Amino acid sequence: MKHLIDPTDLTLQEIDDILSLAERIMADRSAYSEVARGKKLATLFFEPSTRTRLSFEAAMLELGGSVLGFSEAASSSASKGESVADTARVVEKYADIIAMRHPKEGAPLVASMNVSIPVINAGDGGHLHPTQTLTDLLTIQEECGRLKDLTIGFCGDLKFGRTVHSLIKQLCRYPGIHFILISPLELRVPDYIKEEVLDRGNADYREVERMEDVIGKLDILYMTRVQRERFFNEEDYLRLKDSYILDMQKLAGAKADLKILHPLPRVNEISVEVDKDPRALYFKQAEYGKFVRMALMMKLLDLPERQKEVAADAEG
Ligand code: NCD
Repeated sequence: MKHLIDPTDLTLQEIDDILSLAERIMADRSAYSEVARGKKLATLFFEPSTRTRLSFEAAMLELGGSVLGFSEAASSSASKGESVADTARVVEKYADIIAMRHPKEGAPLVASMNVSIPVINAGDGGHLHPTQTLTDLLTIQEECGRLKDLTIGFCGDLKFGRTVHSLIKQLCRYPGIHFILISPLELRVPDYIKEEVLDRGNADYREVERMEDVIGKLDILYMTRVQRERFFNEEDYLRLKDSYILDMQKLAGAKADLKILHPLPRVNEISVEVDKDPRALYFKQAEYGKFVRMALMMKLLDLPERQKEVAADAEG
């Protein structure tokens, strides 16, 4: 395990190990506060982000390491025409691990092929977002107690939403997952995901347009925003942006133990009145994101759980 570009770069065992380590970190945060002392994370963000970049940075700081980087393409040499490969080659000299977000599908993969430090894909265009997937898995594991035998509804922009593509790809690897894909016709999951992921994985899935018809069947409702920046024209965005607005009225038909997830940012698709409902887990989900990134970076940097070992030695 060296880079994380696609969730399936990790075996199920490796994912399980990362989630278990995240659980240990959550249970005893101070025990991990020095494990990355002297390590540097470079966050190379060519596209806007709040949670992903800040949670990566917070994660490295909480491990005792440090961070450097940029948060927009305009402030990097990309604006002068530098290639992703060259930027990565240079940053490799300054940092121990890279988290990269880029509007072009495949950019983090290109970076990873040009350096010998770990590269983490922090979102590439409409393609994949594997650390959001790890965040979602930790949330599901903690809140539902299992990563199998679940009915999950994905709702909103399933065409451009990379968090959706990534999570579907990963969940196809677990048994007993039923997918209900809720979107307008124009924003359905792309054919390549249907053919190469859902069909190939023999997944149980169906596509519907109305949330009300299926909400009562769901264990998890994964809401997403309509991805304005990936639309070709503003008119289509304006027509589709409010296709689904989850409010208390729609929730009336849902299970009492439904888990409502959202990778955030939210625009209009979840009414703020829902935030108070105990089924709304999206802010907690953002917090899980920091812990799972701490665990991931420890694994990719091959950092031992030093303090624990030292403590255990002292006791022994
Ligand atoms: C998502 C992303 O960037 O793909 N945000 C995130 O990382 N939590 C979702 C989105 O932008 O809609």
